[in-house]
Amino acid sequence: MNLVVGIGLRSGTPYRELRDLVASALDEAGGGTVRLVVTVVGRETEPGVQRLVASLNAELQTAPAEVLGRQPVPTPSEKVEELAVTLSVAEAGVLLTGAELVVPKRRSAAATVAIGRLPVAGAGPAKASRATTPAPGYAPAEREVVHRVISERRDVRRGFVREPIPDDVLVRVLEAAHRAPSVGLSQPWDFLLVRDVATRRKVHDLASVQRDAFAASLPPDRRQSFDGLKIEAILDTPLNIAVTCDAGRGGRHVLGRHADPRTTWFSVAIAIQNLWLAARAEGLGVGWVSFFEPAEVAAVLNLPAHIELVGYLCIGYVEAFAATPELVRTGWAARRPLAWAVHQEEWGQRGLPGVAPTSILDDAVQARQNAVQTNSQQLVRLIVGGDPAQYLEQPEALVVHMHSEKPAADFGVLWRPARTPVEAVELGVELARDLALQGVGEFDIQIVERSELADAMARGLRVGASACGVTTVE
Ligand SMILES: Cc1cc2nc3c(=O)[nH]c(=O)nc-3n(C[C@H](O)[C@H](O)[C@H](O)COP(=O)(O)O)c2cc1C
Repeated sequence: MNLVVGIGLRSGTPYRELRDLVASALDEAGGGTVRLVVTVVGRETEPGVQRLVASLNAELQTAPAEVLGRQPVPTPSEKVEELAVTLSVAEAGVLLTGAELVVPKRRSAAATVAIGRLPVAGAGPAKASRATTPAPGYAPAEREVVHRVISERRDVRRGFVREPIPDDVLVRVLEAAHRAPSVGLSQPWDFLLVRDVATRRKVHDLASVQRDAFAASLPPDRRQSFDGLKIEAILDTPLNIAVTCDAGRGGRHVLGRHADPRTTWFSVAIAIQNLWLAARAEGLGVGWVSFFEPAEVAAVLNLPAHIELVGYLCIGYVEAFAATPELVRTGWAARRPLAWAVHQEEWGQRGLPGVAPTSILDDAVQARQNAVQTNSQQLVRLIVGGDPAQYLEQPEALVVHMHSEKPAADFGVLWRPARTPVEAVELGVELARDLALQGVGEFDIQIVERSELADAMARGLRVGASACGVTTVE
């Protein structure tokens, strides 16, 4: 008999108490194999629960308090509400899995336990549910909230109000970050809360230096637009958070990291996104500042040498959240359509699910018919082939390197190793579209190393430009 154990508990309940309570309930159930332990979201990190689950060799599942609270149970108890927010966590947890309740709730000093029998004999919980219907998603109104917070999250740098962030709010936001997925469950992040004004001034100074350096690297018209942008709110917010990465966390054999160490940093970035979303739901604006040499910030913050900065966040309550990104509102950049980013089966077959995929060239030829000329004066000089060193001094130059070997990294050199003329045309169209999204209004195309591939790239650039209302000169 496959069993599920539902547990409600007070924070800090010792393992021994849980073990004894579960053992007595299992006795009453008359034996069986515990496949699953269910508790309320938030209690899964309790050491007692983790040890119990390990000793039973079972799977641990959680359910949100609201969901458990909606589950009718045979033995409701108001006392449990104090323990774990919902009426019977133990019985509701069991019943939510589709199990039949075989031992109703029993309690110890700080915990409650109920036992259920899983529906399919001989199968674990995952198999049982897969054999029937898929697990339900959220109700439409709940789903709507998830999508709302995703679309209404903004990078905020202006309009902060002088109001402190209560500790309980901040803890909720940090808990969301800390619940992020991570490679091998290595949880490589830490959150350094920085409130001290003197420290923040030093960090602000570092950002100012980088701001000036970036401004100096821009062509004059782009620089003018950049001067009107605010890129940080380090001193305008009550709190800064440095989110860091410990690349060695978890030791040698972290599951899933061995082949791709980047996954450690990805995990930290996901934690930041969780934080960002949870903050938005609390009405807190967050601005991510990356105008830094990370090591310089690490030095100001006196981080240990093995700890790296991933994100520096400025957080506070705001007057309002804009409906669109500031870079869109100011015309600095535009959003890329989703259909450009989705490929079906083969790279280059673009289109949304349910729509026949098209090649980027066909798409651009079609788009030319309705293209509106952009009024941007921003010029990019596209140098196809040639020695980058000759051009990198010019801020408006972008050298397109089409050979198969990767060039030395430099944002002034774009590696587009086309294998065939068709691919070169497509890469040209894509480049044109990408640059138009970054506010470019004019291309000056110069083919320095003539070849069939270079000509094809230039053709693609011209088609892409006319599809986006960008002027070309050659
Ligand atoms: C990794 C990362 C670094 C960023 N660095 C900065 C920054 O230094 N300054 C800034 O003003 N915005 C920064 N942003 C915010 C982006 O400009 C912003 O996310 C983008 O324009 C989209 O706007 P939205 O976040 O409001 O949707 C950063 C965002 C990310 C994800």
